[in-house]
Amino acid sequence: MLKGRNLINVDDFSIKEVLEIIELGKKIFEVPSDFSDLCDGKLLGTLFFEPSTRTRLSFEAAILRLGGRYINVAQSESASTAKGESLVDTVKTVASYVDIIAMRHPKEGSAIVAGSQCSVPLINCGDGGHQHPTQTLTDLLTIYKTKSRLEDMTIGLCGDLKFGRTVHSLVKMISKFKNNKFIFISPKELVIPEYLKVDLEDRKIEFIEEENLENIIDKLDILYMTRVQKERFFNEADYVRLRDSYILTMQKLSKAKEDLCILHPLPRINEISIEVDNDKRAKYFKQVELGMYIRMALILKLLGVR
Ligand code: NCD
Repeated sequence: MLKGRNLINVDDFSIKEVLEIIELGKKIFEVPSDFSDLCDGKLLGTLFFEPSTRTRLSFEAAILRLGGRYINVAQSESASTAKGESLVDTVKTVASYVDIIAMRHPKEGSAIVAGSQCSVPLINCGDGGHQHPTQTLTDLLTIYKTKSRLEDMTIGLCGDLKFGRTVHSLVKMISKFKNNKFIFISPKELVIPEYLKVDLEDRKIEFIEEENLENIIDKLDILYMTRVQKERFFNEADYVRLRDSYILTMQKLSKAKEDLCILHPLPRINEISIEVDNDKRAKYFKQVELGMYIRMALILKLLGVR
């Protein structure tokens, strides 16, 4: 039963539960009108203490399309946390007005603390460089719809693997499906965190690390590009030096498989040349679209609405 639960990190839900959400997301995508009044009378609170376009708007669109409504704190300066109120007090307050909360915060671990004191389901929409589980649900639905499977794939993750929370959540989750292998492509300064590598080793999941995208692009079934996370850097000079480490162009793609699936959680800065957008392998705008449907499914499950 998912009703009443929080989603803080990807390990909170079993594979079976994740597949249920994906299945429901797929159904909603196919016939959205069947779901258009299921959240009549329900209120979502979106609490975003960091910038967001897709995640916040897709949650707000999701509840509206389910017949519910939302209230929001879209700019952290507008909430009383800016006066010094603790996050827990702010979340407790919002929880007394709404039925479910979607929250983003710049500090790692903020979601687990807030969720432990929250009387309604709390969804982590990104806690610093830690996790972003609803992006992972979006990624899985996109992969499933594109490839008709979530197993037996070579998955390349490219860019800022150190600070990229979407990467951390995706690797944790998709490594639970059979026979997936990983190629981590990043500059030395932005390699995937040690704890994730140890976890993969413990579970005997194959992975390699590589600095050059062109060396391995022909092996990939999925290529997950990411932006260098400027806001997590301690100095501007390092960011400027690393930000253009990878730029996916049609020329680089000439060596890739015909059925490669190219994903990016967005926003894109420079990592994918816009000429790639028209290639049939580019699925990142499909991914954006599916993000709303998977969030509709998640809201329904956590509210226990049928
Ligand atoms: C990501 C995030 O916020 O972590 N964006 C998103 O939610 N789609 C990725 C990013 O900001 O680079």
